Amino acid sequence: MSEKREHFSSRLGFILAAAGSAVGIGNLVGFPVSATKNGGGAFLIVYALFVAFICLPVMMAEMAMGRKAQKDPYGAYRQLSGNSPRWRGAGILAVLTPFMIAVFYMVITVWIFGYLAQTAFGNLDALADPDNFGRFINEYSVFAYMLVVALVVNLILVGGVKDGIEKAAKFLMPALFVLLIALVAYVLTLDNAMAGVRYYVVPDFSKMNASVLNGALSQAFFSLSLGMGILMTYASYISKKDDIVSGAKMVAITDSLVAFTAGLMVLPAIFSFNPNTDPSELSESSVSMIFVYLPQILLALQTDIGYVGASIVAFVFFLLVFFAAITSLVSIVEVPTATLIEEKGYSRKKALVVLAGAIGVLTVACTLSFGMVDWLTQLTNYGGSDKSMFDVVYDVFYDTILPLNGLMVCLFVMYRWKKAKLSEELSQGCEGYAGSFMEKYVNFSLSTFIPAILLLIFINTVATKFF
Ligand code: PHE
Repeated sequence: MSEKREHFSSRLGFILAAAGSAVGIGNLVGFPVSATKNGGGAFLIVYALFVAFICLPVMMAEMAMGRKAQKDPYGAYRQLSGNSPRWRGAGILAVLTPFMIAVFYMVITVWIFGYLAQTAFGNLDALADPDNFGRFINEYSVFAYMLVVALVVNLILVGGVKDGIEKAAKFLMPALFVLLIALVAYVLTLDNAMAGVRYYVVPDFSKMNASVLNGALSQAFFSLSLGMGILMTYASYISKKDDIVSGAKMVAITDSLVAFTAGLMVLPAIFSFNPNTDPSELSESSVSMIFVYLPQILLALQTDIGYVGASIVAFVFFLLVFFAAITSLVSIVEVPTATLIEEKGYSRKKALVVLAGAIGVLTVACTLSFGMVDWLTQLTNYGGSDKSMFDVVYDVFYDTILPLNGLMVCLFVMYRWKKAKLSEELSQGCEGYAGSFMEKYVNFSLSTFIPAILLLIFINTVATKFF
């Protein structure tokens, strides 16, 4: 089996694909807004420390597991644990989580694509109506957009690792960098742009508290695509000669740089639209930021550059977010795809058809849960309010299970697979690793405070969300 296993054609291909997974909607809008609300530069510093000292070791551990096993996450847990039934649950979660997060992410990507199409049709003025979004998500046209997004994702994935995922990343990632830089360059010329930049970068440490720290760590964790089996799966497509240590660093740096740069696009736009913006009143949710507030800002550009000009800027913005979302979606669907191929012996095509059906049904159900179908809209009740199917998927898998999966990776690598094996795997392709400070730090942190922090986050989320 393993001789036939497809691989990325180069380390760059792997890095671009993994960075493509990491760079997503969270980077482009979620990160800048939460940084500005929560202490600007102070948040940026804390975030960078979390990425370097907490997320990077977890990322290296995930990659090491995947490359060593040359298997999907379920197979990796099985193989590296010597078939232990104790770890089967962790393996199942490592595949079920991306499957369910794919559903949640698909719903949002479909909206992005819908807004992209609408700006292309010249309907920016309609999008800027504050009530538009509520109507839009309950219109049947959403299903047409859904078909297009599903088609794009499947067309990329059916090409496999080298001709699908890698090729798409090699086109989409550079395109994304160009679009982002172009938007930043334009936005910085707007009136009051610098006021936005100031709020974003000037540190205000008085905003720091336990919940901001927790939020920053969760944001970093999600942004780097940890706990979803993605990096394990992608790393299973690289060879023993490749350097995972520097690969992981490159992915973390790229993801963080894109997130930081996105702030230089979003904040100046917000402040030039309204110089008296009170950052603490900005909506916490990326969804209302992207689909309600930003269209108004984009439309307002028409006083400067005319309606067509504003529509072009809006189109470029939604294209940027769409590219970021597609590479993330591809990475997350690849995990259960790899599992079906390896564990069930399916062909890639058959696996994709099965998953398109399963993810499709759940995505449709989530889409219907914003009001179109009552029982899905009020599926259940916990934490003091009614929850829709979409809420449940988000709360359970994104908010709760993600840190749990991270915890499993730490415990597995340190206490079952063992430090020596992790070091050995990370040293392959990275000669300086053995005996380095980094090796000592990774082994120490993964066996002590990182799992402790992830456990605390998990318990805290369960307690606050569900009780
Ligand atoms: N890292 C992505 C983001 O920031 C999150 C993500 C990755 C979501 C892969 C789904 C799949 O948006």
